[in-house]
Parts: sequence; structure tokens; C-alpha cells
Amino acid sequence: MCGIVGYIGSQQAQPILLDGLKRLEYRGYDSAGIAVLDGGAISVRKCAGRIDKLRQMTDASPLRGTIGIGHTRWATHGEPTDLNAHPHTDVKGDIAIVHNGIIENHAALRRHLEKQGCVFVSQTDTEVAAHLIHTLYKGDMMKALQEAIRMLSGSYALAVLCENEPDVLYCVRLGSPLVVGVGQGEMFLASDIPAILPHTRDVVILEDREIAVLRRDSVDIFDDLGNRKTPAALHVSWDAAAAEKGGYAHFMLKEIFEQPDAVANTLTAYVGVDGFKEMLPGLPSRVDFIACGTAYHSGMAGAYYFAELAQTEAAAHIASEYRYKTLFPHPGQEVVAISQSGETADTLAALRKAQEMGADTAALTNTLGSTLERTVGKSLLTYAGPEIAVASTKAYITQVETLLLMAVDLGLRKGALSQERADELLNGLSALPEKMSRVLENQTYLQQYCDRHLHEKLMFFIGRGMDASLAMEAALKLKEISYLPCEAYAAGELKHGAIALISEGTPVIALCTRENLLEKTLSNLRETKARGAETICVCPERFAQQARREADIVWTVPDTDEMLLPLLVMLPMQLLAYHMAVAQGRDVDKPRNLAKSVTVE
Ligand code: F6R
Repeated sequence: MCGIVGYIGSQQAQPILLDGLKRLEYRGYDSAGIAVLDGGAISVRKCAGRIDKLRQMTDASPLRGTIGIGHTRWATHGEPTDLNAHPHTDVKGDIAIVHNGIIENHAALRRHLEKQGCVFVSQTDTEVAAHLIHTLYKGDMMKALQEAIRMLSGSYALAVLCENEPDVLYCVRLGSPLVVGVGQGEMFLASDIPAILPHTRDVVILEDREIAVLRRDSVDIFDDLGNRKTPAALHVSWDAAAAEKGGYAHFMLKEIFEQPDAVANTLTAYVGVDGFKEMLPGLPSRVDFIACGTAYHSGMAGAYYFAELAQTEAAAHIASEYRYKTLFPHPGQEVVAISQSGETADTLAALRKAQEMGADTAALTNTLGSTLERTVGKSLLTYAGPEIAVASTKAYITQVETLLLMAVDLGLRKGALSQERADELLNGLSALPEKMSRVLENQTYLQQYCDRHLHEKLMFFIGRGMDASLAMEAALKLKEISYLPCEAYAAGELKHGAIALISEGTPVIALCTRENLLEKTLSNLRETKARGAETICVCPERFAQQARREADIVWTVPDTDEMLLPLLVMLPMQLLAYHMAVAQGRDVDKPRNLAKSVTVE
């Protein structure tokens, strides 16, 4: 949520900051700004709107200087206006800060600072932090920041420029990510790795309550008591090209097409010639998945895999609910947090709650070095590469794949699954990338469907068992980027109320991956057709004949093991969402009101 960049070196800061912000725009895109320090004075350019608008402003009136900070915002406190855009300064403009996160005690601090004569010009919690740090500054920014850490509550990542210290860039984090990129005679700062990839792949990831002091040739890290810490640099394998569009019209489309490789890479990461590398440790008696949004949907799929392949009780929980729920610890329970970014505030809070309860915890994330990855004893990575589009595609598919692998591994170790069945699944998975590519090759039918159904008012997605979780993910994808209202239902539940919404021509899409449930789901589809719905069945080729007897339209994917079918049937659903959003002229990669990484509660 919101993106931060910073630079100190010998190059002009402005183009580096703007380029970094452009790469982070997916994190928030309602206003943006930069501050550059030169000749002992800080200058700010900021505006409501996207980075391109900021660029027009800086083209007309450039900022010169070799040290600066920048921000792209997803509004939490105060509307997206020019004044609420970051950077924020104190009254005199001696310091400038950019901030991600939420300062929870901003109202009390604001009252306190107003009494001391501070005049506020914006509605943001960030301006409170700017005034506070300025008030605490008595010639030593380290001390001011240590004091500020004690006074600010909430979550934040802050980058600070100070006129009195023109060769230093300060930053501090608590609960919101910040990484330092280490260059030759220059240092970079960002809230997310893709922003610095064109410059360096050597990064230092800040821990909570750490203060980083960046000079051209050094990065020094201190804890909140001022004790020096040794920065541990990490070399990231992602390269800049992985975070670029590479000829595709949108990041989302590129990421959809990267899925065959992502699945192959994830498989090789966990299954070598002699079997599984360590996945979940021990033999948990019960597994709970905690996650938000799309990651929650993959957790739902994971729960089915664990039950069916590992004979282990499992359930998925929405992290924002779990964190406030009365929980009952189970001996041998494992809680697995799932998150593409590894920075989602609710998921992290739910994980802490599970840890307080005494549960063993593990993480499944796409982001090496993320807070989530570093909070748990055991972390498993998905090998999807950087996901930039707000709508998650390849992260979801690799999460579902890894959950399947975890279930197979546990099933084997528990004796719940035979080696023969495990081999069948693993062989099926090896053959899957080619089948996925075949599904992706032909999208014309989906494009044509979307062109015809551009003006739909409502769509339904239904399925039973695992397919109900797929229906929820398909509906979320469509609604978040096309804004088309969608309902996702367990197929048998429809007639208990929601079927009242169906009228002449309402599209109802049934996802059918399970043979034992096919007839049941088709009969639910028939019920909607009797009320005027246009019915579509998405299924493997081997079900096509039966499906055609019931559904108006049948979209097929290649045959494979039924456990692997979720990884195939989701592809046309992602493409459906994509083409519907394109047909409607939506901003596919940056849908309204959303941001890629939700680091606030
Ligand atoms: C939807 C989407 C979101 C995320 C959710 C959790 O396409 O991307 O629903 O899945 O915000 O994010 P992570 O996985 O980063 O914790």
C-alpha cells in the first residue's frame, strides 16, 4: 500500500525517483510526489493523480540534486488531493518525509503538536509524523528518530530528508516494508524490491524498529536504542526484466502467460530426483490456513488437498476475521499463513495471534525477505517471480500447486498416500505446463464472449467442494478488474436464496473438475437455466459430452488428474476477467480503489 523510493549518490535524483515510483505505481496510484535536497534546501513537487502527471510537473519545473525521496499513495487518511500527497514537511520545510502505513495515535499527537504551535495543512497522519520529527530534532536526526519511534504507534515505513544533514538519507520501519539497494557510490531505498532492480540486486531488508542511515558509500543500521547492527545483504534472483511488461499490453496478461514456467519452477524447487525437499516439518494433526483475498481462496483449495491426500483436518480462515476470533489450540496444530507479498497486515496479525496461542507456524509466500517470511520458523516460497498486476494470477496458481505438493509430502510421510498415487500426481504436474500453454494459446473464444457480454449487470460462478473455492476466485478476478458485480456460490446453496437474482440471460458459469460432483453441479446449472440463465460449464474434455447436454456453452481444458484440474480451469477464468476488463476499457493493472499490497488493517 503506497510506494516509497529514495536515492543518494552522484546522479541526479529526480529521474531515478520518478522511474522507481513508476515501477511501484501498482502499490498505490492516487497521488504522488518527490522531494530533492540541493544547496541546503529541500524542494517538493507533488500532485493528486498518477506518476505521469507528476512527471509533467517535474518536466515543467525540474528538481536538481543528488539526494531525494518519493512516494506514490493509496489514500488512507484524507482524500487524494495535492495537499494530502506526500512528501510532507514541517512548517518551515526543514525536513521532508514520505510514509507508508498508518499512524494510529495521529489525532492525539496532532492536538499535542498544535498546542506547540504547529500548523497543519493536510488531513494526513503523515504530516503529524513530519511535525513530530521536526519538533524532536535538536541537531541529531538519529536521536529524533529514536524518540519518534517511542511516540508513534501504528505501522510505518518512513524516509526522511533533513536540510541540516544534506549528505544523509534516513529511514525507519515498523510493520511496513523497506529495502535498501546497495550500489557503487550510491544507495537506493524502496518499499518494494522491483523499484531498485534496474540499479542493483544487492539489498538490505530492514527489520522493525531499525533505523538505516544511508550515505553515498555506506549504509549503517541501528536499533531504536542507537546500537549499531550488522546489515545482512541479500542477493535477489529476480532481474529487472522480470518486473517489466516485456511486450505484453498489461502486466496481468504477461503474468497469466508466465504461469506454465512458474508452475515448472515451483515443482523443481521442491521435488528433486530423490523426492521432496523439506516442506511442512513434522506430522501436524491439523492445519489452519490464514490469508486474505486470493490467497485465502488458495488456502481453501489447500484445505481440500490436505483432507483428501494427507487425511489431515484442515481449514482456511480469512485473516482479518481470525485475528479477532476466540481460538481453541489443538495439540499438533500447524498454522500456515499464505501471502504473495508477505506484507499483508491482517495476515501478519493473524499469524502473531496463532503464535501467541502456541501453534507451530509456517508461511507460504512469493517474497523472499518479506516480513512474513522472516516471522516464522518455516517458510515455503512460491517461485512465481515478481507479480506486479494488482490482480493476482501466477501467485495464486503457484500457491495452489505448493499446497498440493505439501499435502502429497505429508500424505506420503503419514502413510495416507501411496507412493504410486504420489508419483501419478507428480508426473501429472510435470506434464502440466505444456497443457497450461495449450489453454493459453486459444483465447479468441473468451475475447468474443466478452465483446458480446460487455454490458452484463451480474454474473454467477458456481461449483461444489474444491470447485466452490475456484468459483470464488474466478468471481473475485472478474469483479476486481472489470467492476462487474459477481456472485460466487457453492452450487447446492443457490436455491436457498441467491437464485432469486437470476433473470433472463444472466450468465451462470459452473466450474466442474470432479467426476463425482459433475451430475450434481450440472443439475444446479439446469435449475438456473429454467429461470432464464445462460449457462456455461468449464470442465476437462472428458466431461464435455455430458456437459453439452445441460449447458448452453462448454469451455474445455485438456484432461489431467482431477487433483490438478484446478490449475487448468482457473486459466480461462483469469483470461475471462482480463478480456472483460479490456473490452470495458478498464485500467487492468491498476483497478480503482485497490493497491497491490495491503499493509494496513
Ligand atoms: C486479488 C488479490 C488480493 C490479494 C490479497 C492478499 O487479486 O491480489 O485479494 O490476494 O490482498 O495479498 P497477499 O497475497 O499479498 O497477502
